[in-house]
Amino acid sequence: MKTIEASGLTKYYGSLLAVDNVSFSVKRGEVFGFLGPNGAGKTTTVRMLTGILRPSRGEVRVLGYDMLDEHEKILAREMMGIVPEMANPYVDLTAMGNLRLMGELYGMGKREIEKRALDLLKLFGLYERRKSKVRAFSKGMRQRLILAMALIGDPEVLFLDEPTSGLDVISARMIRDIIRDEHRKGRTIFLTTHNMAEANELCQRVAIIRRGKLVAIDTPEKLKTLGKGLSVEVSFEPMVFEGSAIDSALRVEHRGDKIRIYTDDPDATIRELVRYAEEKGLRIVSLKTLSPSLEDIFVELVGGKDD
Ligand SMILES: Nc1ncnc2c1ncn2[C@@H]1O[C@H](COP(=O)(O)OP(=O)(O)OP(=O)(O)O)[C@@H](O)[C@H]1O
Ligand SMILES: [Mg+2]
Repeated sequence: MKTIEASGLTKYYGSLLAVDNVSFSVKRGEVFGFLGPNGAGKTTTVRMLTGILRPSRGEVRVLGYDMLDEHEKILAREMMGIVPEMANPYVDLTAMGNLRLMGELYGMGKREIEKRALDLLKLFGLYERRKSKVRAFSKGMRQRLILAMALIGDPEVLFLDEPTSGLDVISARMIRDIIRDEHRKGRTIFLTTHNMAEANELCQRVAIIRRGKLVAIDTPEKLKTLGKGLSVEVSFEPMVFEGSAIDSALRVEHRGDKIRIYTDDPDATIRELVRYAEEKGLRIVSLKTLSPSLEDIFVELVGGKDD
């Protein structure tokens, strides 16, 4: 049995087709990334998977339960943890108060809630602040609390809609560490994110959605093989670069303090660059060969002037 199964999932908002006949499945224990540009239909999909929004067409099963059946949906939701897009804890409650409230919603016993809440607070670095009102929490602390709230019921499957959006690198890294730990414990995780490095780092498989349609679904490494090949990135000091430095047929992109050169023969390109640096008396600050990143593939698949 697949943990999540979506088939022919479709959603119209009035005449707007937000999700168009999307089918996929997520295996047990997998971190599955759901990627797409703004407005592609990610949140709409998550809301249908979690039973918050009824599809216009199609079917969703989570842990074998039919999410379109009101009774089965209730059973499934007891085993789901959800971090909605832009979720917020209650700011007039303490961290502990929020966790208690969520535990009660899951129908957990008082003692079980206390124990689980304290464990999660410790795990997420919020224990010292457990009695503070959330109003005084930073965004990163709130997001960790939201994640703890989603985990209070020890769910089999976790749905995270952009859990690191708007966080600084340290806070985002803490959230990613938590996701990795939860994966290690065997939880299935459905993750939407705009951060391609994050998807690459965390996900066993990713799906890419564009204007409501699935355009790719595979492992990050296999998707990368669709890319435009290798490139060499170089930074000189001073940063002087003339077209004559390398084979004029190669595509060159200026990227911040670096130059990226797309080439089928990195060895030859590197030799040319080194020769050029010597000739001009430039110091090579960095020089490396790169394979296409998930972000490169993402841009190739969803980019385009018509967007
Ligand atoms: N409640 C709604 N009523 C009408 N249209 C909606 C509603 N929610 C979303 N839409 C539209 O559906 C499309 C998909 O939106 P959705 O929020 O699912 O995208 P998303 O991929 O999550 O985008 P983002 O990355 O910005 O969060 C968009 O065109 C959006 O304007
Ligand atoms: Mg969204």
